[in-house]
Amino acid sequence: MSNTFLKYNPKKNSAFVYQMFESLAAKYDLMNNLITFGLHKYIKQHAIKKISVTSGSKILDICTGTGDIAFLLAENSPAETSITAVDFSPKMLDIARQKANKYSNINFLQADALNLPFTDNSFDVSIISFGLRNLNDINQALQEFKRITKKDGYIVNIDIGKPSGFLAPFIRLYFTYIVPLVGKCLGNNDFYYYLPLSAASFPSQEKLLLIYKELDFKEVKNYNYLSGIIAQQIIKV
Ligand SMILES: C[S@@+](CC[C@H](N)C(=O)[O-])C[C@H]1O[C@@H](n2cnc3c(N)ncnc32)[C@H](O)[C@@H]1O
Repeated sequence: MSNTFLKYNPKKNSAFVYQMFESLAAKYDLMNNLITFGLHKYIKQHAIKKISVTSGSKILDICTGTGDIAFLLAENSPAETSITAVDFSPKMLDIARQKANKYSNINFLQADALNLPFTDNSFDVSIISFGLRNLNDINQALQEFKRITKKDGYIVNIDIGKPSGFLAPFIRLYFTYIVPLVGKCLGNNDFYYYLPLSAASFPSQEKLLLIYKELDFKEVKNYNYLSGIIAQQIIKV
C-alpha cells in the first residue's frame, strides 16, 4: 500500500501536495491523458467556451499546473486579453513555460492560491481547474478569489464532481482501483492514491452551490460533464 494513506490529511495537506506535484511534473501531462483517455482536453475546451471574455479583460488562471487552461484562454479570447497564470510548484511552472512559446499574453508566476500577490479587484475572471480540491481550505480560497476578482466579474471552478446515474458506481471503481494501478505502473504511486481520496473528500456540486451561497456570491451556474464526473461552476462576484 502507498504511504499516501499515512501522509495525506485533507485538512492539512499543502506540503504533501507541493511535494507530490514537484515529483510528478515531468509526467503530469502524459498521466492525465492516459487516465482520462484524453477526454480532459475536450472537457476543458467546452468549459472555456462557456466563459465570455471581452476585449481588454484581465484573467487569472489559479493552480495553472502545466498551463492547459491558460493556453485555451489565450486561444479563445480577444488578442488584447492579459492572462496571468499562477502555481506554487516551480517544476509544474517550468513545463508550462516550455510549452508557452507561441503565446505572448500569458505571464506565469509562482504564488500560493490561498495568499495571492494581487491587490483587490484585479481580475475580470479568475479560474481554477482541478485545483480547488487540492487546497487546505475551500472557504478561505473562495474568499481570496473573491477579493482579487472585480465586482460583477466571475470566478470559474472546474473539478471532479460526484457522478450520478447508472455509471456512477463503475466510475467510482475506476478511480479507486484502476487509476492507482496505472499510477503504480508509471512509478507515481502517491498521486493516484491521492486522487480518489481527494475527490471523495471534495464537496458535491450541490454542496458547492451551498458554499457559494453562504459566501454571498450573486449567481452561480453549474454545468456537469460526463454524467457529473467533472463539473464546472461559473460564479458571479
Ligand atoms: C491537478 S493540477 C491542475 C493543473 C491544471 N489547472 C489543469 O487543469 O490541468 C493542480 C495544480 O495545483 C497546484 N497547487 C496545489 N495547491 C496549490 C496552492 N496552494 N497554491 C498554488 N498552486 C497549488 C499544483 O502544484 C498543481 O500544479
